[in-house]
Formats: sequence, structure tokens, C-alpha cells
Amino acid sequence: MPLTISVIKADIGSIGGHVTPSRRLVESVEAHIHSGGRGLILDHYISHTGDDIAILMTHTRGTGDPRIHKLAWDAFLAGTAVAKAQGLYGAGQDLLKDSFSGNVKGMGPAVAEMEIEERPNEPFLFFAADKTDPGCFNLPLYLAFADPMNTPGLVLSPAMAKGFRFRIMDVNHVEGDRIIELNAPEDLYDIATLLRDQERFVVESVWSRASGEQSVAVATSRLHNIAGKYTGKDDPVMLVRVQMNFPATGEILTPYAMGHYVGGGMRGSHQVPLMPVPLYTGTSYFDGPPLVSCAGFSVHHGKLTEAVDNFAQPFWNTVRDHVALKAVEMRRQGFFGAAMLPMAELEYTGIRDRLKSLEARFQVREEMAAVS
Ligand code: F6R
Ligand code: MG
Ligand code: MG
Repeated sequence: MPLTISVIKADIGSIGGHVTPSRRLVESVEAHIHSGGRGLILDHYISHTGDDIAILMTHTRGTGDPRIHKLAWDAFLAGTAVAKAQGLYGAGQDLLKDSFSGNVKGMGPAVAEMEIEERPNEPFLFFAADKTDPGCFNLPLYLAFADPMNTPGLVLSPAMAKGFRFRIMDVNHVEGDRIIELNAPEDLYDIATLLRDQERFVVESVWSRASGEQSVAVATSRLHNIAGKYTGKDDPVMLVRVQMNFPATGEILTPYAMGHYVGGGMRGSHQVPLMPVPLYTGTSYFDGPPLVSCAGFSVHHGKLTEAVDNFAQPFWNTVRDHVALKAVEMRRQGFFGAAMLPMAELEYTGIRDRLKSLEARFQVREEMAAVS
């Protein structure tokens, strides 16, 4: 029977600002999944990155299953009650709807799910990013699945040399899921053309063209498309199956050494480099910098091993130092030019309101108007 891996995450409150959830909050989510998941799920793992809590579950009910989604939703409600009782900041922030309607998609929490035929040994990675949006994975996925400069497997492994299929979503299209499928390597320039626009075109999934199997699932929801206004950054999660017909763990991790600039950071409105961090890291500098954690697992008949903390390994200390310098360098530029996101992506309305009020005070100089 196929195995489903589901990860559902939400920001339901944190200590000392948008920093990290409290221990009691995390314990309440864990307790709910532990009791409510009996007979429903095969295994689970609860983690937090920045101010977000993620519930990873294995089961056999397929993707988008109402009972699995309700289990996570109710766990977040239980956590929200604790967050309120403790006076945590942003209690229940990502639970944007009052009543559960069968699927948490479109209700605030981020979801990444995959239904797979479990391989005899099945390694996979679970990424969680905070203070950024789903486009933060565009560049790492492009490099890992389409660029032999990053991924030698694309030229060394006959299966991987058949390439990968990218399913890309236009996340600005709110009336429904607007999707395109493109094949690497033939459509490389088309893939590049879309993925450079990290705020609009987002990789939703990646598939092996050799076997047809799915390797990647990314949560693509945009909170402001759901709520119609700023409600926090989208803070995505991602699942990546690795090895054999897929890139190796190291090929998937390597792009994060770049510390590429992503949309996010303070008030979700800046360009700040993405810092790979150990599991359970909170935010700090400039409400960030945007963070990404990576837990590695093996799964057998749905049972998970303990997590390996991929960005805790010493190599990443130097990367973090480098990313911190990049963040400070960009911050020296404050709100000017490339340091702040373009107008349409600003998560707060202050600048737009101010521009509107200045509009009436502009005047076209008489003599110039006469010349033209
Ligand atoms: C960004 C984020 C934070 C907040 C900032 C102000 O995604 O969550 O940077 O935008 O701390 O928060 P409020 O408006 O809640 O005071
Ligand atoms: Mg938050
Ligand atoms: Mg967050």
C-alpha cells in the first residue's frame, strides 16, 4: 500500500515577539497528535523553526485526507489555547478560518504532502523555512535538479541523466491553481525564466523522468492571497526524497551554502540572505535572518528513524558566518533600492497609504506642461 508523508505547519504564537514557540505550546501540539493520531497515522515528528511549528506525519490515507488535515488543525487549535493562556505573541496567527472545511489548504497552515511507493530503503529530507516565502526554494531546487555544476549525478548517473520534470505554480493567480510543467534539461531556459521571479512562480513539485517518481513537494500557499491582507510571511515547508534516481542528500544541501537573497526578514518586506540553521533555531537579527532547517529521515513501513540535523554539521558554521555578513551588508542600505522588496510585495500598507496621500500634493509645473 502506498505511503503518504504529510507535513503541515503553522505559526500559532511565540515567545518575546515572532521568535520561537514556547515549550508548553509545542508539548500541547505533540500531545494532541499522539492521542488523536492513534489508529490514523503510522508515525509523527514535531519540530519548530523560527516561530513556526511543523507536524510531520506518515500514514496510508493519501494526500489531502480530511481526517489527517483535521488532526493537524485540531492540534494547532489546542496549541493556540495554550498560546493564549501563556500570553504568547500572535496566538493562532495562521489559523485564518473559524471552522474546519475538510482541508487545511487555504485556511492558513502550509502543507507539503507526497504519496509514494516506499523504496526498500527510503531516505528523505524535511525542510522548514521561516521569515520568507515558498520561492526561497526555487534556486536550490533549480541547482540541485537541473545544473550539473551543482549536481554531478546529472552527468554521472544514467537514471538522473534522463532529467527531471518541474511543476511550477503561478502563486499570484488566486482564482485557482495555475500550473505549468517543464522538463529539464530541454526547457532549461523556460524554467530559469520563471524561477527567477521568486515571489510569483514557485516550484510545487519535481519528478524523476527516469522512473516517474516524485522527489519534491513544496508548500505553495500565500497567506495574503487567503486573507486578502498581510497576516505574516508564508514560511514554507518542503519534502525531498533523495538518493538512487534522485539527487544525493549532499547534492540537495549544497545550494544552501550560497546564502542566496530571498524575500522576507523584517515585516516580510526585505531582501535578506537565507541562513541554514540547526533544528529548533529561533529568529533574531532583523526578525530573521530568514532561516532554513533540514531534518533527514529514513522511513520503513511508515516508521521514522530519529531525525538527523543536516545543518548542524560543522561545515555550516562558516556558511552562517558568511550569510551573517551578507545580511549586515544589505541592511546597511536600509530601505533603499534592492534592500526592500518591490511595492507589490510589501507586506504592510504604510508606504502605499503614504504615497496615496502625497498624490494630491503633486503639481505639474505650468511652463513644462506648455512645452510638451
Ligand atoms: C515577518 C514577521 C515579523 C513582523 C514584525 C512586526 O514575517 O513576522 O517581522 O512583521 O515583528 O510584527 P507586528 O506587526 O506583529 O508587530
Ligand atoms: Mg510569525
Ligand atoms: Mg514564521
